[in-house]
Amino acid sequence: MSAPAPAGAPADTVVNAGASAEAIRHHYDVSDAFYALWLDRSLTYTCALWGEDGDPAETLERAQERKLDHLITGARATGARRVLDVGCGWGSMLRRLTQAHGVGHAVGVTLSESQAAWYRRGPAERTELLLESWQEHRPEDGGYDAVVSIGAFEHFAAPGLPRAERVAVYREFFDRCAQWLPVGGRLALQTCVKGNNVVMDRRTVADLLFIMKMIFPESEIPAVSEIVEASERTFDIVGMRNDPDHYARTAGVWHERLTARRPEAVEIAGETTVAHYERYLSSSVEHFRNRHLGLSRFVFEKVR
Ligand SMILES: C[S@@+](CC[C@H](N)C(=O)[O-])C[C@H]1O[C@@H](n2cnc3c(N)ncnc32)[C@H](O)[C@@H]1O
Repeated sequence: MSAPAPAGAPADTVVNAGASAEAIRHHYDVSDAFYALWLDRSLTYTCALWGEDGDPAETLERAQERKLDHLITGARATGARRVLDVGCGWGSMLRRLTQAHGVGHAVGVTLSESQAAWYRRGPAERTELLLESWQEHRPEDGGYDAVVSIGAFEHFAAPGLPRAERVAVYREFFDRCAQWLPVGGRLALQTCVKGNNVVMDRRTVADLLFIMKMIFPESEIPAVSEIVEASERTFDIVGMRNDPDHYARTAGVWHERLTARRPEAVEIAGETTVAHYERYLSSSVEHFRNRHLGLSRFVFEKVR
């Protein structure tokens, strides 16, 4: 839940109850060059959307582009004047919105300094990347026609909060999105979720705890029911799909790519970091395959 603002902060400032900026940087600031070795060309660092025909030759690049297009279409962002991307990573969604979907201006927020610095070295036209949390974000131009968020929601609540407090943090996010959107405006949200298979062997539990401690500190994966509850009375859910197999395949491809470039990865990030990422990516394949984790893609529509 939002803590009160520290002394001296503006009255409407809230303190992020999820992962701190330091925790986010622990992960995303490892090194752009390290991530570039195993992500696709656009540096999209979230589950892709693979084709229905299951073509084993499909490239990660194409599947990532399809995912961006799916969320853009869901949010009805094509041709929009202004769109916000909450947790924009290295900006692939901002570029897709303006370069392929005719969006007038795309704004992204991230907490990662190295993502912001990378973007500033070659900013794309009609895009803007801000180094701030969604909780601090105040749009300059009255709001947005559409909002998207991919793979950031997992960072919004700290581990170990009681369910009611987690839901309160998520509700704060939905309330903010509602403030930014017109009635009928849409939010496309993709996030990992807890899976409904809660039976786990010791190794699975150890791997999940390792990921929470060493890879994504201060973050907890939401349950679908918490997301639904938090959005009630503000948004209708007009689309939802669960694609755990798509994340198993995406993590598998990332793992293969990292292994193929291992010597370079070790040179950039060091042996320990590379070994940690190998364990995180290979165990993630299993977590999604075994339904210990799910991958939700929601479309919400503001009702009032
Ligand atoms: C897994 S990355 C996904 C990046 C991008 N959406 C993509 O698909 O490649 C998560 C992103 O969420 C951002 N993030 C996490 N918590 C945030 C917060 N409270 N406010 C803004 N961005 C946040 C991180 O900085 C990072 O850019």
